[in-house]
Amino acid sequence: MPENSSLTCLVTGGAGFIGSHLVDALLADPTVKEVRVLDNFSSGHREFLAHHAQDSRLKIHEVELLALEKILPHFAGVDQIFHLAANPDARWGLDNTRLDLEQETLVTYNVLEAMRRHKVPRIVFSSSGTVYGDVGTTVTHELLGPALPISLYGAGKVASEALISAFCSTFGLSAIIFRFGNITGERTTHGVVFDFIGQLVKNSGDLTVLGNGYQAKPYVYVRDLVAGLMFGQKKCAALAPSQFNVFNLAPGGATNVRFTANELVAQLGFSVRTKIHYGESAQGWPGDVPQSRMDSSKLAQAGFPMPRSSDEAVRLAINRILHWLAEHPAAAAGLRLPADAKLAPKIS
Ligand SMILES: NC(=O)c1ccc[n+]([C@@H]2O[C@H](COP(=O)([O-])OP(=O)(O)OC[C@H]3O[C@@H](n4cnc5c(N)ncnc54)[C@H](O)[C@@H]3O)[C@@H](O)[C@H]2O)c1
Repeated sequence: MPENSSLTCLVTGGAGFIGSHLVDALLADPTVKEVRVLDNFSSGHREFLAHHAQDSRLKIHEVELLALEKILPHFAGVDQIFHLAANPDARWGLDNTRLDLEQETLVTYNVLEAMRRHKVPRIVFSSSGTVYGDVGTTVTHELLGPALPISLYGAGKVASEALISAFCSTFGLSAIIFRFGNITGERTTHGVVFDFIGQLVKNSGDLTVLGNGYQAKPYVYVRDLVAGLMFGQKKCAALAPSQFNVFNLAPGGATNVRFTANELVAQLGFSVRTKIHYGESAQGWPGDVPQSRMDSSKLAQAGFPMPRSSDEAVRLAINRILHWLAEHPAAAAGLRLPADAKLAPKIS
């Protein structure tokens, strides 16, 4: 371990899609002494962290964050929390209306209460552009309000943000809240690219799109997002007690589902083979925000400009996902490449 290592970080949901990439970045940072992952493996995977098996700085704990008394000991001696654990998919709240209440609001309360009891000073939180609700193509900035989400997932994010604000003011914590756009990249376990690949594995002749395909949102490549989280950790460390800041983390502009579908079939070598079928509605499913545009100029002014456009992020992410599936078939958490795929060359 390098001599200047001093930081102990705790990542909730660290075995998940985004969390595992964040763990990669933290372990690559020589100032990090220890990374504690708390995860119940409901949607996370041990394979996503298996390449760190020899790194003694990584401690993985299988725990349920809803059990406050059980998670408390893991917060002792922590300098920085990254709170990522949550229900990852807004659609799941349609069938189970308690899910986001528990996995967002109650889990976030438990994390904050454990921080308070163990005097952990700082938290970086993964919120979402869904907090802004359905405001069409209005470009949302951090001061837009009131937050009127249209999904239970978005409601859980608003409630979590409110709890963080209150814990900061009342108990002297410091926080950076990031409102993410849509995140995509290798190790994806949900979302549009994941769904489309799953369909093409079963039948590469047809791809069915929920909605008319003109739904358009800003996308972020997962490693760019993690660079933003690492920047956020430095910003968080510079905050005084009780200070709290909110940043959008998404490029300007948006990518529509038609672009994503066409890019995916092209990169698989299926442009001629696959017929893409579009629905008629402007919305993919109830609770889906069909249009989203986010302003990240506040984050750029703070020192982190988004490294690429949304379309570039989608193109790169599809390329990385497909090559990752080809290279890591055992670690792909159930996803695989469609038979006969002829992958486009790797983007460096
Ligand atoms: N992926 C996106 O497009 C996106 C967009 C906006 C915000 N976010 C937020 O980013 C965060 C990470 O998302 P992700 O895409 O990596 O999802 P993910 O499902 O891959 O990661 C969530 C992790 O949390 C764990 N977890 C969930 N509930 C838990 C509990 N009660 N106790 C312990 N562990 C638990 C899961 O096992 C998983 O490893 C989430 O808060 C999500 O809402 C993601």
